[in-house]
Amino acid sequence: MPQLIAGNWKMHKLRAEAVALAQALRATPAEPAGRPTAEPAGRATAGPAELLVCPPFTALAAVADALAGSDVAVGGQDCHAADQGAHTGDISAAMLKDAGAGFVILGHSERRQNHGETSETVREKVLAAVAAGLVPIVCVGETAEQRAGGQETETVGWQLSGSLPMGFSGIVAYEPVWAIGTGRTPTADEVAAMHGFIRAELTRQFGPAGAGMRILYGGSVNPGNAAALLALPEVGGALVGGASLAAETFLAIAAAARGD
Ligand code: PGA
Repeated sequence: MPQLIAGNWKMHKLRAEAVALAQALRATPAEPAGRPTAEPAGRATAGPAELLVCPPFTALAAVADALAGSDVAVGGQDCHAADQGAHTGDISAAMLKDAGAGFVILGHSERRQNHGETSETVREKVLAAVAAGLVPIVCVGETAEQRAGGQETETVGWQLSGSLPMGFSGIVAYEPVWAIGTGRTPTADEVAAMHGFIRAELTRQFGPAGAGMRILYGGSVNPGNAAALLALPEVGGALVGGASLAAETFLAIAAAARGD
């Protein structure tokens, strides 16, 4: 399965800027995104990576229009767990889908930290996303304090078992909180160890489906470190923040992806 390079634009870009970036990306050849689980054996894989961008809500429909018919998929950055209702300021999974999204990032550490999201909240959102036909990208990762205390695998293990519902089908992103936006990344050994642990947990929880799920790495991925990170075992792609805000850096990361 090709690696997935996903851009998380966070709270960046007005509509015109977002559309300009989308147009710069759409020329690039890539695998169409949208296959989160194991592929049928023997399927030919063409491009170096599948591409996904997750603009802010206000730019989502415009970006989806700009990318219509291209190989670049579009996703949201969060959704509410309810179908609809009195939830001022929130967005439902069906609204994301209606705006052109095929994916949604859930449980990002900025949501867990700044909006008090627990793994239980994330789990409910995952159910809503899947029910609306979106592929969830569920983020997990330890803080600097948890890693300093030797609790990184325990933390991620609890996040996985709490955030992923029974029968989960989607993507997991390992994003150590201390690596997000800091320019610091874990060592190759640390990434490989955590991705190996996540793979074992997914397989334990979901059997063969878990063995085929993509596990993205996120946190200060840039064109300089992408090839080394993407070459590590069990790394199925990258979730990219800062470096996804310009076509040049995002495409340079995509070019470093494995296409196997
Ligand atoms: P970063 O963000 O690439 O800017 O570190 C990654 C993320 O938060 O998904």
